[in-house]
Order: sequence, then C-alpha cells, then structure tokens
Amino acid sequence: MDFNELSATPAVVESFARTPDPRLREILGSLTRHLHDFVRDIEPTMEEWEAAIGFLTRTGHASTDTRQEFILLSDVLGVSMLVETINQRKSAGEGATDSTVLGPFHMVDSPQREFGDAIDLIGSGEPCVVTGRVVSVDGTPLPGAKVDVWQADDQGFYDVQQPGEQPQGNGRGLFETDGEGRFRFRTVVPAHYPIPTDGPVGGLLNATDRHPYRPAHIHFIAAAEGHQPVTTHVFVQDSPYLESDAVFAVKKSLVQEFTEVDDPERAAGYGVANPFRLANFDIVLQRS
Ligand code: BEZ
Ligand code: FE
Repeated sequence: MDFNELSATPAVVESFARTPDPRLREILGSLTRHLHDFVRDIEPTMEEWEAAIGFLTRTGHASTDTRQEFILLSDVLGVSMLVETINQRKSAGEGATDSTVLGPFHMVDSPQREFGDAIDLIGSGEPCVVTGRVVSVDGTPLPGAKVDVWQADDQGFYDVQQPGEQPQGNGRGLFETDGEGRFRFRTVVPAHYPIPTDGPVGGLLNATDRHPYRPAHIHFIAAAEGHQPVTTHVFVQDSPYLESDAVFAVKKSLVQEFTEVDDPERAAGYGVANPFRLANFDIVLQRS
C-alpha cells in the first residue's frame, strides 16, 4: 500500500507467492531480493537506468539465429562459467574431465572423419597432431565414443566467420574412438583470437578497458553410451591470454603442452610435415 525503499522488496516477493511452480517462485523471489539490493547499493540516476535498458535492448537486437549476444554477455560476466561449473560439480569431484563453455561457434554439424584424419583443410600454419583416449572414471576405455572437435585456424578465425575464404568444415571433425577408446587427428596449432566486439558486449569491454582475447584452444564434446557427455577445451600451454581469458573459461587441468617434435620418421607415421607439435588429451567421462 505505502511504497518506500524497503517495503518494495517484500511487496514484490509476496506478489509471486501464488506461483504454482515452487522452483519458479524461489527463483523470482531471489531475483527480486538481489535486484533490489543492487539498486539500493548503486542508487542509479534515471539516466543510468535508461542507459541500462538501452544496453539490454541493443543486446537483444544484436542477437540473431546465428549470433547470441546475450550468451556473449553472460560469458564476459563470468556467468556462463559459473553455471557450467556448478552443474559439473559432482562429475569433476569424481575425477571426470573438467567442462568449460560451449561458445558460439558450434553452430554447424562437424563432418564425420576417420581416426588420424586431418581437420585442417588449408595446410598453412604449424602442423599438429592431437591424440587421446576417452575413458570412464574407473579408467575403462570407451570404444565407439563420439569426439566432436572444432577450432580456429592459425589466424584465429573459425570457418563460419570466413565463408568463401575458408572451406566449410575447416577445423572441425566428428570422430569415433577405436577399440581401445583412442582418437587421433591432424590439424594446425590454433591461434588465440578476439571474441566478437562489434556489438554491445564489445562496447562494454571497450568502456571497461578489457581486452577481448581468448587463449588458443581446441573445443571438444565427448559422448559415450552410459556416460554424461562433457563439453570442454584443450588450451595450448604457451598461448598468450591464459591468465586473462575474456570469458574466464581456463581451468588448469585443461592446459596441455603442445610439444615440439623434430623427427621425420614420426612425422611420416602421422602423415604430417616435420617438425610438428604433438598434444595428448585424455577425456574422462562420468557414468550417467
Ligand atoms: C569460443 O571459444 O568459441 C567462444 C567462447 C565464448 C565466447 C566467444 C567465443
Ligand atoms: Fe573457441
């Protein structure tokens, strides 16, 4: 009845009291309490409130079927990683591979490829071989597991960012592990790259003197029968920005050495030019 700065909160919480879904009721109550506390904390001017509404409106307008500016906003605020990590708490505690953000570039199906195939269809850049095994938390290898990989090229661009310049499917592959749970592919060492900065999120980074870069990485989604799939990355150990990823997605366990190998015989065995870099990344899945 009599609105004041403090009565506002219980009044709005109470307005949701008859929400039939208890989880929705809990979420709206908590949102109201935190949002009101935030507003009381910063005491925005009317102009600041209008600027906030304008920012969110532009974020919506910048989003399309192929671009999700709200996810990018969630990424740069560290919310995506927080949600990801909360939801993987149990698996990580039991020794499963740490998860990290999916990101916006898994928007097309990866082409099916065979053990040892190349995902790089261009041939510039530093040759690289990635090997690994998919195993269950007790160490049992998982034959027939699906390993979906995608990465930026040696210039830091995904195929979908350069249609016409990069062939479709460049840097992508869907593999199946062999009888011993192993996968292997040839590629180029990916480069670090900036997240998209031409929208409102770019404006936010600019206004706050934050750089937009992500350290070099290869994305993985691994899935096997009877196990929980994991969405993760392997990070290149000597990449810049490991300490300041624009989307806070680095976990120490995911940083791997991409060892320099100068051995013509081994290079020939893998079907790459010598010298090359070799990375191993084993993926441990939690039982479902
Ligand atoms: C990515 O790694 O592809 C990515 C993740 C979050 C935001 C932008 C890009
Ligand atoms: Fe990426």
